[in-house]
Amino acid sequence: MKTINTSIELEKAITLERKQGKTIGFVPTMGALHKGHYALLQKAREACDCVVCSIFVNPTQFNNSDDLKKYPRKIEKDIAFIDSLCDIIFLPSVEEMYPFPPTDTYDFGDLDKVMEGAFRPGHFNGVAMVVRRFFDMVKPDRAYFGKKDYQQAAIIKKLVGLKNYPIHIELVDTVRESDGLAFSSRNSLLSIEKRKEAPFIYQTLSQAEAFINNKQPQEIKQWVINRFKSNPHFELEYVEVVDAENLHILERIDPSRKGVICLAAWLDNVRLIDNIEFNN
Ligand code: PAF
Repeated sequence: MKTINTSIELEKAITLERKQGKTIGFVPTMGALHKGHYALLQKAREACDCVVCSIFVNPTQFNNSDDLKKYPRKIEKDIAFIDSLCDIIFLPSVEEMYPFPPTDTYDFGDLDKVMEGAFRPGHFNGVAMVVRRFFDMVKPDRAYFGKKDYQQAAIIKKLVGLKNYPIHIELVDTVRESDGLAFSSRNSLLSIEKRKEAPFIYQTLSQAEAFINNKQPQEIKQWVINRFKSNPHFELEYVEVVDAENLHILERIDPSRKGVICLAAWLDNVRLIDNIEFNN
């Protein structure tokens, strides 16, 4: 496993791999790695000859400076954790990724007008900025993203279409702790006491999903809102029942189309997101 800090070194290393006819798999991350990231890397390892993982806490996707400051950083631990699955770990500085103040903007149509896009203005533009730079440097054949960030995955697919990148985007199922909590870098920010409350999120989503055949989206949404209101540990930011493809908010459930219930909630000043698919 090689650790690289500059884009010039990275491009040299990638060119060398390409000359040997190797396929490149790419997993972008912001570090504080967990089993969810591990699953992405395992998928990349299975399908590609050379696996590249980036670790970069991207400032342009944070719409809140406190959130950026407190985002967990565990670089040594991260490297040891993924060592066996990775060929190249890319650890750029902010200056390396953004040598000039970034000004690129993207039109994602309706995709970024709801949920995360509505509550975190500029977030997806920042994600697209950094992912585009990574794609241009790594030029992967395949790139891997987790379904926990469902809307992000839709945005990345759209970006690939807009820029005509010949990259196959693979979405990987959310990995959960034994009590149902989705693995997330932010989980480490929860106190021991509040961590015990966290499975409430997935329990709520699972129960909501069980109503899909006999309740309408608005009723399901209201049920989730009421359930969160009755739990003093949480503050629900949003819950939406949306089409899995275009993320349009659903008025009716169409059994022939895949959908997803997405939510964001605050626990212990930590913002957690999760979702559950239906009509899979
Ligand atoms: O999902 C993440 O960790 C980040 O949004 C990503 C895709 C690495 C871009 O910074």
